[in-house]
Amino acid sequence: MEYLDSAGLVDTPRKILKVNHAGEFGAINIYRAQILVSKQFGRDYVPQLEGFLKDEERHLGIFWNEIQRRNGIKCKSYWLCGVGGWVMGFISALLGKKGIMACTLAVESVVTEHLKNQLLYLKQKDDQAAYDAVNAILSDEEHHRDTGLDQGGNNALYAPFRFCVSLFTEGVIRFGMR
Ligand SMILES: [Fe+2]
Ligand SMILES: [Fe+2]
Repeated sequence: MEYLDSAGLVDTPRKILKVNHAGEFGAINIYRAQILVSKQFGRDYVPQLEGFLKDEERHLGIFWNEIQRRNGIKCKSYWLCGVGGWVMGFISALLGKKGIMACTLAVESVVTEHLKNQLLYLKQKDDQAAYDAVNAILSDEEHHRDTGLDQGGNNALYAPFRFCVSLFTEGVIRFGMR
């Protein structure tokens, strides 16, 4: 998706910060649900999920600080991301490790594409603070995506699940940017 100047009251850099903040809340809920389910089954990859959760909590703070500096508020998609993330995390964890990795791969593939387009837009806008906030999380999200790919998330059986997760992720981002 190409990022363009907003015709509404809220400018595009603010929208980007809000959407990303909501997305981090979604990611936090994905990992929380996955950890909750995976712990019940005593799965050995719980520490890895806890590491990802810590990354997402840090990302949430980065965007919230910048939103507050601009006197902004939470995105209208905040709770949708939260509930949607939790449901996706819960279902993926019931599918086992490959399900979890398929979820991560699908979400983070959509997210990293958006982040790169956001960076192009913010660079051209000369909004250094927003650029820095987005740039600060890109390598973590790429690492999450690549972990999903390396650990079986690309399994063909999970293609329909990845498709649904991608569709939802793309949908909430577009809804938040409107
Ligand atoms: Fe994140
Ligand atoms: Fe992530």
